[in-house]
Amino acid sequence: MQTIITKNQAEMSAKAAELIIEQVKAKPDSVLALPTGKTPQLVYAKLVEAFQQGRVSFAGVKTFNLDEYVGMCRTCADSFYVYMKQHLYDHVDIRPENIFLLDGAASNLDDECANYERDIKEVGGVDLAILGIGRDGHIGFCEPGMSFDSRTIVVNLDESTRQANADDLVELKEVPAQAITMGLATIFKSRQIILLASGEHKAAIVAKALEGEVSEQVPASILQTHPQTTVILDEAAASQLKAS
Ligand code: F6R
Repeated sequence: MQTIITKNQAEMSAKAAELIIEQVKAKPDSVLALPTGKTPQLVYAKLVEAFQQGRVSFAGVKTFNLDEYVGMCRTCADSFYVYMKQHLYDHVDIRPENIFLLDGAASNLDDECANYERDIKEVGGVDLAILGIGRDGHIGFCEPGMSFDSRTIVVNLDESTRQANADDLVELKEVPAQAITMGLATIFKSRQIILLASGEHKAAIVAKALEGEVSEQVPASILQTHPQTTVILDEAAASQLKAS
């Protein structure tokens, strides 16, 4: 695991965007796993900027989002699909058929999970997964206690996660109780992983995940055992690391 500490969120985002661009240039048909939330917003803005400057094309790229709320229709204002359209997809040359997102409103969620696993396998697996981290240590929506062997699955969201995400809601009054998420084993199989965190509110969990015991109680700690993980932090998020 390599850890890069940057000055602030803007630098963290620029660094992450450069690594993604490098990956896409080296392999134009890269398969990316992507998060939503506050952390990656500037990263997506940097990717859009690079596309507009002609520095990168996403025409061959395939993307799989990490998660979606259960019950959320694709075009609902609070769906991660709408988030991705707003932040990335509507502004770059990615092909609609190369965009994969879990359908939270699917009538059979078990089939939806199985189909997602099949789709990921069919494209040859994820080359690069970009991850944020929740204050309880979740990655994707893999909450504490979830098995390291888990595949795409329906989960109950922790109360702290629901509260943390409440201010991102556009239309809904409260965060749904359940989500559908790539499992930890699915994420771990990615050939390369970038974990991002910025802000003091992430400092305690970052220290626990990176320097604490590898435990299913801290899902992100699984990354300590991944051979190709780069962690990019800003100074505030890194402030409780012993090694910083
Ligand atoms: C969302 C996801 C989550 C977030 C995490 C941090 O797709 O994968 O793991 O990355 O909840 O959220 P922010 O970035 O809003 O602090």
